[in-house]
Amino acid sequence: MTAVEQNLPATEQAPKTIYLKDYAVPDYLIKTTDLRFEIYDGETVVSAMLQLYRNPAAAQPATQLTLHGANLELVSIALNGKILGEGDYQFGDESITILNTPEEFTLITITKIKPEQNTSLEGLYRSRTMYCTQCEAEGFRKITYYLDRPDVMSEFTTTVVTDKKYPVLLSNGNLIDQGEQENNRHYATWHDPFKKPAYLFALVAGDLSCIEDTFTTCSGRDVTLKIFVEPKDLDKCDHAMTSLKNSMRWDEEVYGREYDLNIFMIVAVDDFNMGAMENKGLNIFNTSCVLAKPETTTDAGFQRVEGVVAHEYFHNWSGNRVTCRDWFQLSLKEGFTVYRDSEFSADMGSRTVKRVEDVTLLRTAQFAEDAGPMAHPIRPESYIEISNFYTMTVYEKGAEVIRMLATLLGKENFRKGTDLYFDRHDGQAVTTEDFVKALEDASGFDLTQFKRWYSQAGTPRLQITDSYDEDAQEYSLTIKQSCPPTPECANKLPFHIPVAVGLIGSGGDLPLALKNAEPDFETSDNTYKVLELTEAEQTFVFERVFEKPVPSLVRGFSAPVKWHYDYSQDDLVLLMSRDSDGFNRWEASQQLGLHAIQEAMVAHQQGQSLANWQVETALVEAYRNVLRDTSLDRAMVAYMLSLPSEAYLSELADVIDVEAIHCGRAAVRKALARALRPELETIYRAYDHQQTYAVTAAAIAARSLKNVTLGYLMLLGDDALIKQCESQYRTANNMTDVMAALTQLVNSDAPLAQQLATSSLDDFYQRWQHESLVVNQWLSVQAMCVLPGTLQKVKALQTHAAFDGKNPNKIRALIAGFCASNPINFHADAGAGYQFLADQIIQLNTQNPSIASRLLTPLTKWKKYNSQRQSLMKAQLERIMAEPDLSKDVFEVVSKSLA
Ligand code: TRP
Ligand code: ZN
Repeated sequence: MTAVEQNLPATEQAPKTIYLKDYAVPDYLIKTTDLRFEIYDGETVVSAMLQLYRNPAAAQPATQLTLHGANLELVSIALNGKILGEGDYQFGDESITILNTPEEFTLITITKIKPEQNTSLEGLYRSRTMYCTQCEAEGFRKITYYLDRPDVMSEFTTTVVTDKKYPVLLSNGNLIDQGEQENNRHYATWHDPFKKPAYLFALVAGDLSCIEDTFTTCSGRDVTLKIFVEPKDLDKCDHAMTSLKNSMRWDEEVYGREYDLNIFMIVAVDDFNMGAMENKGLNIFNTSCVLAKPETTTDAGFQRVEGVVAHEYFHNWSGNRVTCRDWFQLSLKEGFTVYRDSEFSADMGSRTVKRVEDVTLLRTAQFAEDAGPMAHPIRPESYIEISNFYTMTVYEKGAEVIRMLATLLGKENFRKGTDLYFDRHDGQAVTTEDFVKALEDASGFDLTQFKRWYSQAGTPRLQITDSYDEDAQEYSLTIKQSCPPTPECANKLPFHIPVAVGLIGSGGDLPLALKNAEPDFETSDNTYKVLELTEAEQTFVFERVFEKPVPSLVRGFSAPVKWHYDYSQDDLVLLMSRDSDGFNRWEASQQLGLHAIQEAMVAHQQGQSLANWQVETALVEAYRNVLRDTSLDRAMVAYMLSLPSEAYLSELADVIDVEAIHCGRAAVRKALARALRPELETIYRAYDHQQTYAVTAAAIAARSLKNVTLGYLMLLGDDALIKQCESQYRTANNMTDVMAALTQLVNSDAPLAQQLATSSLDDFYQRWQHESLVVNQWLSVQAMCVLPGTLQKVKALQTHAAFDGKNPNKIRALIAGFCASNPINFHADAGAGYQFLADQIIQLNTQNPSIASRLLTPLTKWKKYNSQRQSLMKAQLERIMAEPDLSKDVFEVVSKSLA
């Protein structure tokens, strides 16, 4: 009898919760892992030879061994050469237990799997023309019986045997053997000298082409670099290769980390659940995160490739050489690696721009997560399905926590700390506690209170007030902190929060002298200070302040908090033009824009028409100054001009008024467009559309400002401007400008624009139908159209040849594009969007649970809407909940949302 047959009866009870407090070391460890994959059409035979030994650290010597295994057909199992019979082992829920196991033994299992039928895209599966794997977090158990947990690290040797129609056979480490076999078959054997957990295992077999380069490491070793893609994509690999070499150099220079194998490979795969995966020496990437060329890829796409290539490369140290003890420690590798890749991108392009982008993402998606039913600390205490915890919180907030540590310790101490961490824990599977301890030991800092960031969820609030004593020439800032309750904890203890500040006087930044403070030798800049907030309420007094200043607060977004200070409009205008902190100039522009939008929202709620809405002159003048300020980075001007997004406005609201947000924001934008038309047209016209495309920070900035002005001008509905936009669509030499123009045409309700949108969309599809990633952009621009009738179009596109309901990138472009990025339409029509999303989730629940669960996010936020929407959204969650055979992924998110 096979495991599949044994496990057939579906278990009726709810999936079980795994707790951090229950962590126990494994009973057995695996010295070596020898794998052999015989891949045939329709079926793959996996032979695994494991050298097992009792873990000396286990509480008591074990006499049985439970291995993970899911959807495996067991052919045979042998212990020390003896084939085991039915009484020697038992099947459990996704596991097998071998009875009477000795101190040390060799286990050989032979199992069969069906990669062609694996639609979950975890384990070994087929994507288009190739076989590939995805093992993080718990995919290896779908390949063979194993101790599939990150604290079991083993030395892997892997042989892949296939028909020669798959000429390229890859796995981790170095190629040690290859050759021919009978029946037109061949094999390759790879050996990885570094011990690793199973989640870092990878295998690829396919008909692939590659570009090749070399990198000479700081100690003079030559490393071969290869990027493998389907032959049709060979012209889109150069940017990824450049990014890889830049990453390798940067990690040597900034963290002292050298690459350790003789070869580093990247493979691009079209069907992939996430962005990319850091498998040792063999990174596997979603095509969307590797392929790039100007004709097909937007600037955002280029930057994403650079960032993801760096991210996965940096994991070689932060994740692979030092890995996680258990999955509760996920942020140990992810938060740290996101911090590393964002600093890399800051160094490659513009630091302030990168910060604005990261903070925007954090403040919309992560803050919303922290305020919803799935809120969890960056180190969660429990989970049902670990795939649900690859979240904004673990990644993005996790990176902010590392950033705060770097801010508090200072550059030198932080580097000493990371050196000690890598040195002390090389080859180990460790915890976030170990990371913080290394920083403490290297720097002498006490981070006891700081560690609350790891255990308490929720976004802290800072209420900041000030007073100026003219006689004493003292200025004081009082900061109160609080944190709303989250599912795991009602009463939060105060956080240790670095609050970076400056004081702006009539002549610019004032020197800062903190009363009763030791002189600060570390910073040469005495106009910037990091205040350490540790109590619920604290007052900081500055002396020798000769005029009443305007405070520049939480500079560079020094902590992931929501803060409030009662600025006047004049204060914000001053900060917007004079703050020496570029980030806070943008922050001031956002707060100004926010006030203006909130006024329009109130008018909308009171039933006033917003048709000819006017904004205050002061606001117009502030933006006019920004447009004229040639000293400002063009990208920053673009971001300052982009008012707070609907997602951010929703996050700030207690009850989200979808229509007021959409209409209020649109009205303010239109008012600005009317008032600033000459300046906007000057910028648009000054742009040379024929210049050769470059992906430098300056060129990206110029395009982004020009396209923001195009967006404003298109609000005016003027035929000449619409024609100009269509001409940009037709003549642009790069995808950024093409997509910007197409997006504007699609979203304008002017009759001429609609007519041109239809013809341009047809033209676009004709032109790009054979470029899958470009087709995704075509799908998402339509899915995100704010005009009425979009849901019908989305449904029609589901049956279009361009769509493939099994491909995660297509699902993200069309379904998530509509449900997660088009609020005005998703929430329209008495819940039609909710029902549509629930239908998709029910279908994906069996096909690809991890994608199904991710798609659910918009419905989980139901408590933030009015009561009518609440009941409609809740009804769809209940409908999903009532489905038979819910995956753990979907069950966890839906049940927590309804709790
Ligand atoms: N570790 C990957 C990263 O770089 C994340 C990842 C890729 C992943 N594929 C996955 C996580 C599949 C879960 C499931 O961030
Ligand atoms: Zn990662």
